[in-house]
Amino acid sequence: MDRLTRTLLALTAAGALALTGCDGGRKASARQGDTQGAGFEKGALIGVALPQKTSENWVLAEKLFGDGLRQGGYRFDVQFANGGVPEQQNQVQAMVIKGARVIIVGAVDGSQLGAQIKEAKAAGATVIAYDRLLLNTRAVDFYLAYDNFKVGELQGMALLEGLKKRKGRGPWNVELVAGSPDDSNSRVFFDGAMSVLKARIDDGTLVVKSGQTSFSQASTQGWKGENAQKRMDTLLAGTYSKTELAGILAPNDTLARAVLTSAKAAGKELPVVTGQDSELESVKSILRGEQYSTINKDTADLVRQAIAMVGDLQQGKAPEVNNTRDYDNGVKIVPAYLLAPRIVTMDNAVESYANDPVLKKVVRP
Ligand code: BGC
Repeated sequence: MDRLTRTLLALTAAGALALTGCDGGRKASARQGDTQGAGFEKGALIGVALPQKTSENWVLAEKLFGDGLRQGGYRFDVQFANGGVPEQQNQVQAMVIKGARVIIVGAVDGSQLGAQIKEAKAAGATVIAYDRLLLNTRAVDFYLAYDNFKVGELQGMALLEGLKKRKGRGPWNVELVAGSPDDSNSRVFFDGAMSVLKARIDDGTLVVKSGQTSFSQASTQGWKGENAQKRMDTLLAGTYSKTELAGILAPNDTLARAVLTSAKAAGKELPVVTGQDSELESVKSILRGEQYSTINKDTADLVRQAIAMVGDLQQGKAPEVNNTRDYDNGVKIVPAYLLAPRIVTMDNAVESYANDPVLKKVVRP
């Protein structure tokens, strides 16, 4: 079975279609949807609906969207939905009423905005799913994100590499942590990682002693550190009271630090822990030899690309996409522009962050 088929099966089984991949229809810049073509006035309103502040990338995105849209001469409305789904539904609806010409959405729950973005389309706005795919709706025009399946694959590979480097010969005891079940990315990260790890679990190289190997058992409601920490505290006190836990697949840096805190509190030798997002505290932890890896998904590049898409739409041009095949949201293939994520460990941190204004100072040798 190839990667796409595997993903399709996994997602279909879960009733949530959110596909990944990044090699279909490369550079196929095509006119998509039916709201582009005429362009719109410079200075038009652009709406940006962001989810909760569950990681630093979202907070950074708020600032970068504000700065970039201001520089581009647009009016803008950037909102966080800290109160969750109903708040985000209201925010998107308000953007439509205010006449936003493009609405960029980082969804709290990708399957709960169908009615609001249908209204957006009816009002002539273009809808761009940002970082997280919008599911089961025809009203989404484009998807812009880092390749999330690839993120998971890189995390799975880093876990195996870290175990070999730091924990001697296997078999190794590991535990799996996944993101929030309402975020359409979480399952894709998990499936990407499992595409690497499953064969090693099946052949006994990796042992998940808790038996918690399904997405629903591994998931962490709300991407909250305290939830991952609690689960790990319980596992360490029970399953691992007398034996070593050598590694933890963690889907992002917030949860990586949470499970490391748990291991420290239990007085355990630190497990190999993966992450994602290049958060400052995690990069420092990697340099100290604690967290093993993170993923570099530069938010500045993603926001720059989003604003380039807005610029094309403003001029009546079709935004560039590089994947017109893999992102089936359940009812349509959403034309996507994907950026490539990169793995970062202690070994390549200096070159990875050479162009990051904050992190380059932290990693300077
Ligand atoms: C993003 C990750 C982030 C997570 C929690 C995901 O949808 O892709 O970068 O760590 O949300 O905020």
